Amino acid sequence: MSNDEFRAAMTRLAAGVVLVTAHEPALDPGGPRGEDVGMTATAFMSVSLDPPLVLVGLREGSRMDDLLAEQPMWAVSVLSESQRHIAGRFAMKGRISDRLLFEDIPYVRGKEAGAPLVGGALATLECRTEQRVAAGDHTLVIGRVLTAEVPSADGGPLTYFKGRYRQLG
Ligand SMILES: Cc1cc2nc3c(=O)[nH]c(=O)nc-3n(C[C@H](O)[C@H](O)[C@H](O)COP(=O)(O)O)c2cc1C
Repeated sequence: MSNDEFRAAMTRLAAGVVLVTAHEPALDPGGPRGEDVGMTATAFMSVSLDPPLVLVGLREGSRMDDLLAEQPMWAVSVLSESQRHIAGRFAMKGRISDRLLFEDIPYVRGKEAGAPLVGGALATLECRTEQRVAAGDHTLVIGRVLTAEVPSADGGPLTYFKGRYRQLG
């Protein structure tokens, strides 16, 4: 089986798109302030109801993987079909800073995780890492769900299928 065959098969799995977020604290209190970080992901799933657990798969060495190795608090915003631009910008490779990327996005800061929760998202969850599992070139981060809300009742989900963003229906 080649990488291309594997990829082609997996692009046929339609997926919802989420934005994973976390706050990167300032290195030293007197220095530059901390920064919010976001990453577009489809490798997100519910794992357990009791206790409430979710899982996100992060490419090893990605900025979010590095950050969540240090920062146990993170959040997930389930993106709606009108939030394709958010998914696009937080998937860009080689970004130096996410500071400007959040500037024109409405968000609130989660009470538990301190991470941005995107306004107008279909659902938002705040999580605390319970377990990290190394799996090939990814890290599976399993998180305890601390809060779960459905801020926006309107609109369909943003989905990803055969390498393109799609809307249902
Ligand atoms: C639709 C879509 C889904 C993605 N899903 C994931 C994912 O589940 N896990 C992951 O680690 N990266 C995923 N990525 C890639 C990251 O968004 C991207 O690598 C990251 O934002 C770039 O930062 P980096 O240079 O630190 O990797 C996805 C990208 C797209 C466009």
